[in-house]
Amino acid sequence: MQKSDTAGEPGSSRTDQFTFYSMTVVSYLESAVPNYVENLDVIYRDNPELVDWLDNVWLHEESEHGVLAKTYVQETWPDYDWEKGYQLFLLDYGPRCAHEELRPTPGLEALARCVTETQATMSYRCLMNYSDDPKLKKLMKKMSTDEVRHYREFRRTFDAYNVTEKNSFLTKARTIIGRSELVKEEDLFMAFKPISQCWNGPLPFEAWDYDDYLAALARISRQYLPIAEAQKMLFKPMRTRGRFNNFLVSCMAAIVRRQFLAVTA
Ligand SMILES: [Fe+2]
Ligand SMILES: [Fe+2]
Repeated sequence: MQKSDTAGEPGSSRTDQFTFYSMTVVSYLESAVPNYVENLDVIYRDNPELVDWLDNVWLHEESEHGVLAKTYVQETWPDYDWEKGYQLFLLDYGPRCAHEELRPTPGLEALARCVTETQATMSYRCLMNYSDDPKLKKLMKKMSTDEVRHYREFRRTFDAYNVTEKNSFLTKARTIIGRSELVKEEDLFMAFKPISQCWNGPLPFEAWDYDDYLAALARISRQYLPIAEAQKMLFKPMRTRGRFNNFLVSCMAAIVRRQFLAVTA
C-alpha cells in the first residue's frame, strides 16, 4: 500500500483510507460496550468480584478507548460526521446487543470474551505497526496493552469456571471459532455500513466499499498482524500435553488464521 508524502508527520493519517475506516470502526465498536455490559452482569451475578471488575474497570477502560478513538477520528477528519454515523450504527447494533446470544455457560462466555480481547489486541498492534503517525502508534500501544489485561482476566475467569464445567475440546473449539466468525461477519460490517453516508464535503481519499476495505485489511494484516502471537493467545486455553490434542489445535489455528487474515479459500 502506498503511504502518503506526509508519512511520519503528525496528522499524516488524514489521506490514508485504511486508517480512517479502521479507526472509525474501532471507535464505534468500543463506544458501544456499555450496551452489553449488563448482559455480562446477569450471567456472572453469582460472582460479585467479577461484576465489580466488569462495571468498574473493564467498562471504564473500554469506554475510554471509545472516547480516545472518537477524538482521533474527529481531530483527523473534522469533516466526517462521527455522531451521525454512530447513531446510524446503533440502530443496527443496539438491538443485537440487547438480545445478544450469550454462550450457554459462564465459562464459555468468558472464553468467547477471550476471543474478542485477542482480536482487539491484534488489530491494534497491526494498526500500530502499519501507521507512521506517532500519535496513532502511541494510542494503539496503550489500547492493545489494556486489551491484553482484559484477556488475562477473562482467561482466569474461564479457567475457574471450567474446573466444574469441564467443557469438552469440541465445545471450546466451537466457541472460539464461532465468536471469531461473528466479529468478522457482523461487528465489522455493522460498524462499516453507515460510514459512507456521513461525510460533509469531499473525501480526502477515494471512498471504499466494504469489499475494498476487507481486501485492504487482508493485505495489511498479512504484513503487519502478529498472527503467531494471536494464535498463541487464542488457543492457550486448549493446549494439553496430548499430542493429538495439540494436532487438533493446530488445525483450528489454521482456520482462525484464515478468519483473521481474511484469506479466502
Ligand atoms: Fe477496548
Ligand atoms: Fe477489552
